[in-house]
Amino acid sequence: MNSTIAEINIKNLVYNYNSIRRKTKSKVMAVVKADAYGHGMIECVKVLELQKNSPEYYGVALLQEAIELRSSRVTIKPILCFAPIDFNEFKYYKNIIPTITSEDQIEKLLKVKLNFKLKIHININTGMNRLGINFISAIENIKKLSKIKNIIIDGIYTHFATSDEKNKKFAQLQLSRFTKIVEELKNQKINFGLAHAANSGAVLDMPNSYFDMVRPGISLYGYYPSLETSESIKLKPVMSVKSKISHIMEIDKGETVGYGRLFKANHNTRIGTLPIGYADGLSRALSTKLRVIIGNSIAKQLGRISMDRISIEIPKSTKLHQDVILLGRKGN
Ligand SMILES: Cc1ncc(COP(=O)(O)O)c(C=O)c1O
Repeated sequence: MNSTIAEINIKNLVYNYNSIRRKTKSKVMAVVKADAYGHGMIECVKVLELQKNSPEYYGVALLQEAIELRSSRVTIKPILCFAPIDFNEFKYYKNIIPTITSEDQIEKLLKVKLNFKLKIHININTGMNRLGINFISAIENIKKLSKIKNIIIDGIYTHFATSDEKNKKFAQLQLSRFTKIVEELKNQKINFGLAHAANSGAVLDMPNSYFDMVRPGISLYGYYPSLETSESIKLKPVMSVKSKISHIMEIDKGETVGYGRLFKANHNTRIGTLPIGYADGLSRALSTKLRVIIGNSIAKQLGRISMDRISIEIPKSTKLHQDVILLGRKGN
């Protein structure tokens, strides 16, 4: 058996989720795209669904992810797919919410004969310039959509480009563009469902962006989105990566280790090998820079990271099969 594991601490996932909930006091769309940022989408949703105040929505990037989550039956909550609506896959939108991201899609929707009530969210581009209907023409486009038979506008949203930066000038500009649209829709009594904008950076540092719902991703899994945000919510990392020493050898001064002979020993060196490499997602770019926890000390990784192995310099006391922490903590 492979002794390398990613351990998911569900207590910490619940802790982060509840902390976000407590601070924002709004509805939560838990962003579980990319397999819940690598933490296992189905398992994470199962855990979140067990909470008293479970998320009102789930957010994913791709239709495939939404289909997987829906067909797992772990939740009956709405699932929003951030990807542009796909007119070839309409059948799935009976119980998955697509995003309208362009005026072209609105023109197409005007021509589709809808035989069911289609719930949509509208992405409004306020400056991210990745997806979305331009904020300047948003009102007229939302009006157009609101008049299409069998279309229900369940939400409108925008996405911040810089909410995780210390300087919030651009994020505040995006926010003011979005806020104006929300207010104008209210004034004109156009139903737009839920307004939402806040990703993790905004959840931490922009309380004026919470609207009806927040959309945290990375913070759920215990990480601050950058080193520049505040730590206004205490977060606990959810994942640890652990392995065991699978082989020990001694090399003499002057010998080298691994592909490309990147590491050359300047003294007799004891080497432990771990069964993890870039096939497991351990970036090759970390070669020679990686440090691991072994016993009560930090050990250096030596040479180039291989596809399924790395070598580390170990002290005399290290034993075969001893535990090693690659991501995580031990004491302090
Ligand atoms: C549309 C959208 N909303 C919310 C998020 C969550 O962002 P974060 O992980 O920074 O909280 C993402 C992820 O990038 C996203 O694409």
